[in-house]
Amino acid sequence: MTERRYRPLDRLLIDAQNALGTVLGASAAERRNPSADLPGTALDEVARRHAAGLMRVNHVGEVCAQALYVGQAAVARDPATRDALLEAAREETDHLAWCADRLRELDDRPSLLNPLWYAGSYAIGVLAGLRGDGWNLGFVAETERQVEAHLDSHLDQLPAADARSRAILEAMKADEARHAANAEAAGARTLPAPVPAMMSLASRLMKAVAYRL
Ligand SMILES: [Fe+2]
Ligand SMILES: [Fe+2]
Repeated sequence: MTERRYRPLDRLLIDAQNALGTVLGASAAERRNPSADLPGTALDEVARRHAAGLMRVNHVGEVCAQALYVGQAAVARDPATRDALLEAAREETDHLAWCADRLRELDDRPSLLNPLWYAGSYAIGVLAGLRGDGWNLGFVAETERQVEAHLDSHLDQLPAADARSRAILEAMKADEARHAANAEAAGARTLPAPVPAMMSLASRLMKAVAYRL
């Protein structure tokens, strides 16, 4: 009885701890940084700023992924769905740490608006999760497919000499494709047409802002 009463509070505290860790950049990767063995190439100032802008966008994307999945998990009905969401969020922690590492190497900083990105994405995650577990998984699948396509476009846009950023994005892309496939296999439902379009619009807005801020 007592245990049940504390459970929502425990969950809230765990979510708050995750939010702080994510926003403050305290997350540590469990897997090795995929760029670790590549030599660092000097980039001129224009290329450095461009690479940093792109990697800041990717870092924000991972902040949003964490927040979405943690928000969705907070209201997931089926414990198996909740566990799958939290497992996906854990893998996103590696992406978050790798992007933060690369931003530091590029002598730049994460987005100043990370608390805002986190809060907004958490709210969207909770809303999606409240629609039920089929929606929850559908939302994961759609997010991951959109991120996969986005990473392809960043792989094209990165300065040719920036092999280290490219190695990180390649590894992330492989993970995101697997996250999408897992969600589809677990029973993701296809989201109605306006939802993917709205998600894409929101991410375009985020990308335009996070490239600079
Ligand atoms: Fe990711
Ligand atoms: Fe993912």
